Amino acid sequence: MGHSPSISFAKFTAPKTGNVIVLAADGGTISERGQAVDPAGVLKKAFGIAEFTGKAASTVEVLAPQDTGFDRLVAIGAGSPDKLDEQLWLRLGGVAYPLASSAPTGTVILDLPDDEIASEMAATFALGMALRAYSFDKYKTKKGKEDDKGASAKAKKDARIVIQCADPAAAKKEFAAREAALEGANLARELVNEPANMLGPLEFADRARELEKLGVEVEILAEKDMKKLGMGALLGVAQGSPRGARLVVMQWKGGKAKKKPVAFIGKGVTFDTGGNSMKPVAGMEDMKGDMGGAAAVTGLMHTLAKRKAKVNAVGIIGLVENSVDGASQRPGDIVTSMSGQTIEVINTDAEGRLVLCDALWYCNDRFKPKFMIDLATLTGAVIVALGQNHAGLFSNDDELAERLAAAGSATGEKLWRLPLGEEYDKLLDSKNADMKNVGGRQAGAITAAQFLQRFVKDAAWAHLDIAGTAMGSPATDTNKSWGSGFGVRLLDRLVSDHYEG
Ligand code: BES
Ligand code: MN
Ligand code: ZN
Repeated sequence: MGHSPSISFAKFTAPKTGNVIVLAADGGTISERGQAVDPAGVLKKAFGIAEFTGKAASTVEVLAPQDTGFDRLVAIGAGSPDKLDEQLWLRLGGVAYPLASSAPTGTVILDLPDDEIASEMAATFALGMALRAYSFDKYKTKKGKEDDKGASAKAKKDARIVIQCADPAAAKKEFAAREAALEGANLARELVNEPANMLGPLEFADRARELEKLGVEVEILAEKDMKKLGMGALLGVAQGSPRGARLVVMQWKGGKAKKKPVAFIGKGVTFDTGGNSMKPVAGMEDMKGDMGGAAAVTGLMHTLAKRKAKVNAVGIIGLVENSVDGASQRPGDIVTSMSGQTIEVINTDAEGRLVLCDALWYCNDRFKPKFMIDLATLTGAVIVALGQNHAGLFSNDDELAERLAAAGSATGEKLWRLPLGEEYDKLLDSKNADMKNVGGRQAGAITAAQFLQRFVKDAAWAHLDIAGTAMGSPATDTNKSWGSGFGVRLLDRLVSDHYEG
């Protein structure tokens, strides 16, 4: 899946060949070990010519510097030391990746003053590199046409990258913990990028089944099982597709036996045509990514199991295709959810909430979890409200919401809280059933969240609307992929900060 570059850590030694990278602080200051690789001062000279001042994430490179065996000598700006936080270290790694890997070997001199955090920062930097390295090219038959235009240098996938730092063994250990999150994020990216002809509900369930190798217990419920449970809302969405429907229940039992699990629930619409309330042609291909929530939950379960997190975690994903066919549900149809509540389907394109309402109810009913967090590419309205740099956060629990927002700031997978309230909830009342599945033109992201809240009773719950962030968000220094893997690192951090041990 994807590609993980070769990254290792070593003690400081004079590099002989390949690309050599040093960091420069504000004002273009380079550490002593950085200066040592540039005795002739060619970098310093280049700083002046390029007007390089060490501004964070800016770069200068010198090609084939004289009297060295190097291909390139590169400086990356680290900015002012007091602003060098975790997010920036991650980003610097992303900036460095193509510059380090355009030669057979890339050496990064990470000479940090504060030894205590130096290993963590080196590992975070390495994670940034590895996140940047992912690209989705399995269906390109002509390899080698580089699509990474992020730098003048072209990344070579087989390059060996060495990060020189004060305590390589410690950095290696720190990086191993982060590699679990990298793998999870790359799994989510890969699932989102896969086209819907390759990845339908059954194929997705097979991919989730593979987590058994890591010790995750995986149960797969088919249509008849869901019918028995009364999941009429989820099955109503699936009924127009020949690709079937699955509910996958993943359990990672890394915590104490009696401890309540934390639960993550994902929307897995492997393609969303809108159904009879069909979507317009323009951009419909993006709806292959309408399983971004399920991808994040699957990636998270991979991560937790891989790093043997000391937590009991449940991941539940509802997998369906929202298709158009003689058998598809119609606007006006009334379905009965597992909760017993009836729903008038005004718009068959508001299908994600119909999938999630049964998955949430099932999760709460069966597991009585400590909290439930659902992730869904749920509404276009959240993109109108927040754009593509923050996901929408809704919650009935302030502590959970605050912890989520903090994990978002730390990982760069940012959240912004939007309100819930009775006035919004009322918009879902229906003439013909207990509720309708759309609220009207206003506050579309909020009424979608209100709909979900009708299925969580008094459980602590948060809903992340990742329609703008799971796919098609602007490329960053650490993500060049259409499917971003959003949510995996965020939730892994939430768990490791608050719910382990
Ligand atoms: N999957 C879409 C939401 C979406 C839109 C995700 C754009 C990513 C990018 C969802 O199923 C949907 O169609 N929502 C409708 C709801 C409406 C009918 C109330 C929407 O947002 O238009
Ligand atoms: Mn839809
Ligand atoms: Zn959808």
